[in-house]
Amino acid sequence: MANRRVALVGCGMVGMSYAYALLNSDLCNELILIDINEDKAKGEAMDLNHGLCFSSSHMKIRAGSFEDCAYADLVVITASAGSRKPGETRFDQLNKNVKIFKSFISKIVASGFNGIFLVASNPVDVMTRVTYELSGFPANRVIGSGTTLDTARLRYLIGDYFQADPHSVHGYVIGEHGDSEFVPFSQLNLSTKNVEEFFNDERFANDYKREDIEDIIEKVKNSGAEVIKLKGATYYGIGMSLVRITKAIFGDENSVITVSSRLNGEYGMRDVYLGLPAYVNRNGVRKILPLNLTEEEIEKLRNSYNILKESYDGINM
Ligand code: 2OP
Repeated sequence: MANRRVALVGCGMVGMSYAYALLNSDLCNELILIDINEDKAKGEAMDLNHGLCFSSSHMKIRAGSFEDCAYADLVVITASAGSRKPGETRFDQLNKNVKIFKSFISKIVASGFNGIFLVASNPVDVMTRVTYELSGFPANRVIGSGTTLDTARLRYLIGDYFQADPHSVHGYVIGEHGDSEFVPFSQLNLSTKNVEEFFNDERFANDYKREDIEDIIEKVKNSGAEVIKLKGATYYGIGMSLVRITKAIFGDENSVITVSSRLNGEYGMRDVYLGLPAYVNRNGVRKILPLNLTEEEIEKLRNSYNILKESYDGINM
């Protein structure tokens, strides 16, 4: 299992939820923890190592520095100026986080790192683009968590509604990881059956209603804020989303995941990073899977695109 080394930048709750989920998977053979607070990284490495003999994983775990990224195949960035406070938008965090990223992306590049960047810090689509610009890496090797978590939330809630396994729910939350994200109904299926078919079929008309699905989609959109209101932060869901993407990369899976990737003419849009289903493999994002979106859905995507473009253009790079 050579060449599966991860350097994690940011040992807060999101980073450590990822590290803990990674320890409980058998995906990587070395995990290097990097944090501005070196003692915190050391303590976290010790704590995880104490669980190692109960895990099926043989990974080496240690605290390290940016120079150690030279040996990494994947750098996962969860570093942030702090978790979102109740009422704070993801964009409030933007300028604070850009400053932090400027302080370390160049150090990672200077180490000789030649792998894939996976970014989770919010606002994730903009921070992924910032990483792309600051690193000078090819776009396929700079990925954001995008709407991977939102899509998981959607599959969970739709599965619950139909009393079906979320794995049998197929559909995507796309666009910005944030308020303008949306679910194209045209692509939302239970197994191979589009949800619209349930509303138009009298056998189901009393059981399943379009308004219920619309409510679920609203809930998905507000899930992050709701969890933050209830417990102060979200971390397990995003940690597992990052492990899923790590698995697709190290397993060279070509899995289709709604990561944040750089648009290159898709739907007539370019340069901006946003969440769309894309093939993820050992080289990062292979390509975005084109969807047959309706005109209305393309307009919603363009709205996300405009918001993200404006917010990137508004930062001091
Ligand atoms: C989430 O959606 C807060 O972005 C974070 O869980």
